[in-house]
Amino acid sequence: MHNCTILSGKEVSDHVYRNLQDRVELLFENNIRPGLAAVLVGENPASKIYIKMKTKKFHNLGLKTETFKLSVDCSQEELIQVIEKINNDSSFHGILVQLPLPNHIDSNSIINSIHPEKDVDGFHPENAGLLSIGAPRFIPCTPKGVMRMLEYYRVKLSGKHVVVLGRSNIVGRPMSILTSLKTKGANGTTTLCHSGSSDIEKFTKIADIVIVALGVPNYLTKDMIKKDAILIDVGINRVNDNSEKGYKLCGDVFWEEVIEKAKAVTPVPGGVGPMTIAMLVENTVEAAESTLK
Ligand code: GUN
Repeated sequence: MHNCTILSGKEVSDHVYRNLQDRVELLFENNIRPGLAAVLVGENPASKIYIKMKTKKFHNLGLKTETFKLSVDCSQEELIQVIEKINNDSSFHGILVQLPLPNHIDSNSIINSIHPEKDVDGFHPENAGLLSIGAPRFIPCTPKGVMRMLEYYRVKLSGKHVVVLGRSNIVGRPMSILTSLKTKGANGTTTLCHSGSSDIEKFTKIADIVIVALGVPNYLTKDMIKKDAILIDVGINRVNDNSEKGYKLCGDVFWEEVIEKAKAVTPVPGGVGPMTIAMLVENTVEAAESTLK
């Protein structure tokens, strides 16, 4: 038997939803129903599933949501027009454009066209900038969800070495900023490793906490960590198998191996994934609340 704690995103996200109930009630009393507009371009199967999971949660909580679907060959101008319409629609407090976008569309131009006060993904440069100076408005959902899990399970980062693997604008970069901010629950000493790093093991081996966001199945093995490390697995990879679906989901952490050595690990599925959705709901509620003030 192992002594590794399983950090359940299902449990923490349920806690988040319970805490949001009163806030949502208060908005309803003020005739405000938090609303999310989801924008999906093309037929990427993973993107379709993510959008479905996100909007389903909004439905189940009695919140407003609508998915705007555009064909894979829509022009950048068409997409921007859709976003501007949502920007000007007061029944939507949040806008989410599911990434990645087709190659002929410049993602930065699209993200720039989202009204920063409706940018519940926290990807707009204004929101990214606010986070980097320690004055966040909307924090990207996945890194925010990871911080919430660490807080819930009382994992202190102050005085600890945090190693983040991956430097994407969606996870790794904001994660490295959040963990190192001088705030309660953070104050960590963070190393950010990426595809240009040599000898990543040198860092993961001395890390107290490793946050893996690479998208490489079973990347982080037992030999790469120190005993009693805490591992946060952001990867959701489809690996082909002989099941009916033809694939199974696996993380970036080699789960079967590391549970013998780590102090705590997030599972895939049921770890960071549910937290991303909970933080999207929380950010949308926050966006709706700001219209009260
Ligand atoms: N693609 C991968 N993660 C995300 C996310 O959190 N939000 C959006 N919009 N797209 C993504």
